[in-house]
Amino acid sequence: MTKILFGTESGNSEMAADDIADVLRAAGHDAEIVPMEEADGSTLVGTGFAVIITSTYGEGELPETAQPFHDMLASERPDLSGLRFAAFGLGDSTYETYGNGIDILAALLKDLGATQVGETGRHDAARTEPLADTCTSWAEAVLPATAIAAE
Ligand SMILES: Cc1cc2nc3c(=O)[nH]c(=O)nc-3n(C[C@H](O)[C@H](O)[C@H](O)COP(=O)(O)O)c2cc1C
Repeated sequence: MTKILFGTESGNSEMAADDIADVLRAAGHDAEIVPMEEADGSTLVGTGFAVIITSTYGEGELPETAQPFHDMLASERPDLSGLRFAAFGLGDSTYETYGNGIDILAALLKDLGATQVGETGRHDAARTEPLADTCTSWAEAVLPATAIAAE
């Protein structure tokens, strides 16, 4: 079972989570979508493979549903050495801090012992490629093989 966690303010990351779940399910994998405001350390402890998705706000900060999740992990410091994860970030390259949110979360997960697989996927709202196309092609390239390996 792959868990797909998303942090968002205006819903784009949730749409990306749905599209990424579709890619996994089409490849024969179970996928559970979890909003970050409903997640904590126990969501990830004991999970073999997860996809982490978040946008960026403020001056390169996390969106409001991801910040409490981040802060909880940073203070509880669960052992995530059994976790492999893939990361997808949303942002807008007209901001100097383009896509920083996913880098903050990925760095924390790695600090807690998790291993990132694949390149971090990115969607740039300043470009014309639709989010669904960007996240679907990233997921098709990165996820099925790594999800199989985790099962
Ligand atoms: C007020 C505001 C601030 C933002 N700040 C940043 C930023 O600092 N860096 C960045 O890359 N994107 C920034 N963005 C762009 C969002 O991350 C982008 O629109 C994203 O698709 C939103 O996804 P969401 O609907 O899941 O929150 C900002 C957007 C808004 C509306």
